[in-house]
Amino acid sequence: MNKNAWVTTAWADIFKKIKATSQEMTIDFPSMTESGVYQNTHKPWAWVVGFWPGLLWLLYEKESYKPFMDMAIDREDTMDGPLDEYVDIHHDVGFMWQLTSMKQYELLGNDLSRTRALRAASHLASRFNINGRFLTAWNKNDVNSADPRGLSIIDSTMNLPILYWAAEQLDAPRFKLIAMAHADTVLKEFIREDGSVRHMVEFDFLSGEVKKHHGGQGYNQDSAWSRGASWAIHGCALSYQYTKEPRYLDAAMKTADFFISQLPEDHIPHWDFRAPRDENTPRDTSAAACAASGMILISDLVEDTELKERYLSAATNILKSLSDNYSTYDDPNQQGLLIAGAFNCPQGLGINCSLIYGDYYFVEGMSKLVDRLQG
Ligand code: GLY
Repeated sequence: MNKNAWVTTAWADIFKKIKATSQEMTIDFPSMTESGVYQNTHKPWAWVVGFWPGLLWLLYEKESYKPFMDMAIDREDTMDGPLDEYVDIHHDVGFMWQLTSMKQYELLGNDLSRTRALRAASHLASRFNINGRFLTAWNKNDVNSADPRGLSIIDSTMNLPILYWAAEQLDAPRFKLIAMAHADTVLKEFIREDGSVRHMVEFDFLSGEVKKHHGGQGYNQDSAWSRGASWAIHGCALSYQYTKEPRYLDAAMKTADFFISQLPEDHIPHWDFRAPRDENTPRDTSAAACAASGMILISDLVEDTELKERYLSAATNILKSLSDNYSTYDDPNQQGLLIAGAFNCPQGLGINCSLIYGDYYFVEGMSKLVDRLQG
């Protein structure tokens, strides 16, 4: 049997599962599951709202199944609420409008979608702190003692594409310069010498000096939260894709090498690579999926053949293990595609459940493997 036959089978399973789930999903914006059922975020400005429509677009792109397109468009329309109200939106406008409006514009050329994504990009650019050279993450902070006016988090690295895209769309290099300034701060302040990654850096919001590191969703300030690592791997690869500046590719490979070196035998990371560990320590399949999709991007972008193979093979091992050991294809009691996601272990929230971003990046990574079979 062809060693890649599993990709075709898994893709068919994913399509079938999402067809079923989408018919029974009565909520607007799935976030995480409780007892196998997706819960609505109830916050139209939450960072997760783009993942479900984004996942539907990825499948529509390959399968041309029109109900997915209709649903994705409908969800995107609903997101005009937070965009118009403005005051609650934050740095994750990238996650929110890249996978929805940017995607719809790419696939269907809808000008309204283009305008939405450009407005989101303008908002993100306005969050730039000129002295600290970082994008301000949030408007308020209920998580720890950090002053939100000076707080930057690794997750922002994934929001930079909307700025690079806006620079191209409007022939306005200022968006790209802001994205690169933030990406350079990530390289300097978030990625450690060994390739592990900090979650939160608090800057003095006036002077721009670093004040403190916070553990955030990781175990502590010196630990290595695995989803944060996946945001860095994938986000730095995206920065290289848009800028072709080698330092971003180097950073993507350095953080990927650390990630790969920490994986247990089944290739699926624990929630924090440096948290105390026993057989009950939660895994995080969302970190696995996002890192794997990012590693396929690295493999596409790097020129050296051995490196290409290294990152493709690591990504394939992760995706195959997700598909073989953590998928729910035939389980009607699970609405998610992947079990064993971990949202926020320090706060005891969303542990051992499906996470919509885990499902999204799994489908994204699998769709890239399907492209390779077809290409
Ligand atoms: N962006 C928040 C998280 O990764 O949980």
